[in-house]
Amino acid sequence: MDFSNKILLWYRQNMRDLPWRHESDPYRVWISEIILQQTRIDQGIGYYLRFIERFPNLSILAEASEDEILKMWQGLGYYSRARNLLTGARQIAKLHQGQLPGNAKQLKTIKGIGDYTAAAIASIAFNEAVPAIDGNVYRVLSRIFGIETPIDSSEGKKTFAKLAASLMHIEHPGDYNQALMEFGALHCKPAQPLCQSCPFQNECMAFQLKKVQDLPVKTKKIKPANRYLYYIVVEEQSAVYLKKRIAADIWKNLYDFPLIETPVATPVEQVMGSSAWKSLFGSATVEIKAISENIHHLLTHQHLHVRFIHVALKNGKFMHSNFLKIDKRNIFEWPVPKLIENYLNEKIEGQ
Ligand code: ADE
Repeated sequence: MDFSNKILLWYRQNMRDLPWRHESDPYRVWISEIILQQTRIDQGIGYYLRFIERFPNLSILAEASEDEILKMWQGLGYYSRARNLLTGARQIAKLHQGQLPGNAKQLKTIKGIGDYTAAAIASIAFNEAVPAIDGNVYRVLSRIFGIETPIDSSEGKKTFAKLAASLMHIEHPGDYNQALMEFGALHCKPAQPLCQSCPFQNECMAFQLKKVQDLPVKTKKIKPANRYLYYIVVEEQSAVYLKKRIAADIWKNLYDFPLIETPVATPVEQVMGSSAWKSLFGSATVEIKAISENIHHLLTHQHLHVRFIHVALKNGKFMHSNFLKIDKRNIFEWPVPKLIENYLNEKIEGQ
C-alpha cells in the first residue's frame, strides 16, 4: 500500500470525533482552522463551540464588534487571529457576497489566511488537492523520509511542500491533510512517539537510523525574553481604570491596567518612587491595598514576571484621558490578557 493510502487508513481507524469533522461548511472549517493554529485541540473545542453558537454564519460575524470577539477569544492567546477573523469576515461579506472563496489561491487574499490555512480550508471544504503543512506534518515527513533540512529555512519549506504534494491523496485531499496532522498529534508525537506500534516502522528512516529524537531539525532556537511588568490596579470608590492597548503586539486592542515596565526585576518601593509612577499619579496620593507575589507567565517567546500593585486613590484625581474609568463590577465584560483574568479570578475567590 502506498504512503497516502496507508496514512488514510490509519486516520479512518484512529481519528478523533471532533465537532468540525461533522461539517464541510467552509465558514466553519475556516473558524476551526484559525482556532487550531497554535492551540491544542482539547483547548480549542470549547472555544469553537461557543464561537459557532454566537456567530453561526459569516454575516453575523461580520457585524460583530471587535471587543466582543476578543472577549470570546480571551485565554486562547495570539489575539491577532481574532482581529483578523473579523477583518476577514468583513472583507468576504463585502467583496465575495458573503461566501468564502473556493480555492487556496483566492483564500490567501483574505486577511489572516496564509499558506497553511488556505490549503486546509481548500482541501477540507472544496476538495482541492493542496498540501496543508503544519508543525505535525513537518515532524511526520522529516522522520519517515529522514529529511534533515531545517524546517524553518526557505529550502526546508520548499522541500517539505514538494514532498507533501507528491504524496497527496488526489481523491481525498482533505482527509489526507488531516490524517498527516492527526498522525503527528497522536502517534508521531514530539516526545515519546509510539514507534513500537507504528504502521510506518519498516520504512521510517528516522526509526531505522535511530534519529527519531533528532528530527525535525530547526535552525533558530529562540530564547524567551524576560520582561518585568508592574500592573497598577487603581481603585476609586467603585471604579477601576483600564486602558485599551494600541501597540501592535500580541495584546493589541485588549484592555489592561496602568502598567509600568522595567528592564530588570525591581523592588515595588522603587517602582512606586519612579518617574513613571509620578507621571501616572501626579500629586494624587494612594493607599496600598495589596501587592501580589511575583507571578510567572510563560508565552511562546516571552517570560513575563508580573506583580499587581493594588491601590486606592486617597487624595486627588487619576486624570488621564486615555484611561477608561469603569465600574469594577463590570470588569469581566472587558477583554483582558489571560494573566489579568487569572489575577481577577483569584481575587474573587480570595474574598
Ligand atoms: N490541526 C489543525 N487543524 C487540524 C485538523 N483539521 N485536523 C487535525 N489537526 C489539526
